[in-house]
Parts: sequence; C-alpha cells; structure tokens
Amino acid sequence: MSHKLDKFRAPADLDLRAELQAKYPHLGDMLELFVANEGPAINKWHHYLPLYERYFGQWRGKPVRFLEIGVAQGGSLAVWRKFFGPQAVLFGIDILEDCARLNGIDGQVRIGSQDDPAFLRSVVAEMGGVDVVLDDGSHMMAHIEASLDALFPLLEAGGTYMIEDLHTSYWRRWGGGLKGKPNFFNSVRAIIDDMHHWYHDGEIQRPALQDFVVGLHVHDSIVVIDKDVAHRPMNSSVGIRDSRQAAARRQAKSNRAGER
Ligand SMILES: C[S@@+](CC[C@H](N)C(=O)[O-])C[C@H]1O[C@@H](n2cnc3c(N)ncnc32)[C@H](O)[C@@H]1O
Repeated sequence: MSHKLDKFRAPADLDLRAELQAKYPHLGDMLELFVANEGPAINKWHHYLPLYERYFGQWRGKPVRFLEIGVAQGGSLAVWRKFFGPQAVLFGIDILEDCARLNGIDGQVRIGSQDDPAFLRSVVAEMGGVDVVLDDGSHMMAHIEASLDALFPLLEAGGTYMIEDLHTSYWRRWGGGLKGKPNFFNSVRAIIDDMHHWYHDGEIQRPALQDFVVGLHVHDSIVVIDKDVAHRPMNSSVGIRDSRQAAARRQAKSNRAGER
C-alpha cells in the first residue's frame, strides 16, 4: 500500500500537536492519547481522531464491550484502554499468531480471521455480547463484508459498527475499484436502499442488517452504522389545522386538474 499512501504521510518535522489543534480545535483527550503515545506504535489518519470521540465517546468510563478487528502491535488496544477506562471489555482479533503475545495486556486478543463467522461468533460469545465493533483489519472488500454480515446481527441494539481505511474500496489489490461492484460504497448504497425498503418494491440486499440500521454515516474512509430497531415509519399531524388553507389547496388542485 505504501506507494499509494506516501503522498499523505505527515512530514517528519511536523508539529503534530499544533497541527491537530489547528485543524481539529474541538478534539478532546484523543489529542494527548495519540500525540503523547509512548507505547507500541500506532498509525492513524488525523481526521479519524475526532470521529472516534464523536462515535465512541458515549461509552467512556462504562463497561462497554468493544471488539477491534486488527491488533498489529497492540498500539490501538493500548489507546482504547486509556480512552474507555478500566471497566471496558476490550477484545482484539488478528490473523497473525504473533499477536497472541499481546493477550491480556490492554485487552484480550484472539487469533483467527475476520472472514470466519464461527470464529467471530465464538469471540463475541466470550465477550458476553458486543456494543462496538471497529474494523481495522485487512481492509479487503470480501473480509469487510464477511465481518459485517457475521457481527452486525450480534451487535447490541444501540451499538455502533465502524469500518475504517475504506479508501481501499477504490484499490484493486484490496478487491475494490472506482467502478467495481465490490467497492464497499456500493454496499453503503444497498444498505441505504434497504433502510428505505418501506418506500420501494426492490429486493432486500443485506438481510443480515435488515430492520436494524437506524443511521449510516459516511466520512472520508470511514463508515459508521448505528444499530437499533428500525420501527415502521409513522407520521402524525398535531395542532390546530387551518381549514381555509386546506380548502384553498383542494381548490388549487382541482383548478390544475381542470386546466389539463
Ligand atoms: C492496520 S493493522 C491494525 C492496526 C491496529 N488496529 C492499530 O491501530 O494499532 C491491520 C491488522 O489486521 C490484521 N489482519 C489482516 N488480515 C486479517 C484477517 N483476515 N483477519 C483478522 N485480522 C487480519 C493484520 O495482521 C494486521 O495486524
């Protein structure tokens, strides 16, 4: 991936704290957790930091069950432990056997593939359920889809599913491509259409997510899906209706019909 990413690399002499403060003035604790990290290496796109605070902030200091796909050197698990606090149930999964050495440091680490539904189910069972999923794994289209299909049904109502580094949706080596069908943003469109299934006759395209997507947020390379019961939409009129206005509208409508 390096050649594609080189042009985005921060200059070596960048004052990272000043840069983040200038561009993201509302950034909270994530600023210091990232800038002052002296633990295992962590590499993050700068614009992800405020998004983590926005979407994960509600669970800080709570016994949130957080599952990260992709442990690498354990840098992010260390940050999540500091961010969420001691009550959080943190689990990370990785396909690399070497990551097993990180088990029990900042969270539990299990070894397996993100495209193995049985493995994912066993991890969530061990966690006692899951409130938040962060997919920072292979970033391959097929893997992202497999994890979403397996984990979204297991996510607690009120939970959050975040997928990052989705610029790979445009890159063939990751199974994506600007006009390619597997581009994850085509799935986003399918999820949006399913969310609005009440209003059209099209087939449900992602049955694993059906009736539980109540929000979908797209940012540069990040998609966040809010899970909850999507109730059948209903609307009401309340307050005093102006009958003259309604009569005028009816009259205008019949005039238009007469003109045709
Ligand atoms: C971007 S790194 C994770 C970085 C880590 N979250 C951090 O910020 O410090 C991606 C990780 O995903 C792992 N990975 C790749 N394919 C995977 C798969 N199929 N299942 C689970 N993990 C996978 C890689 O071994 C690698 O450690």
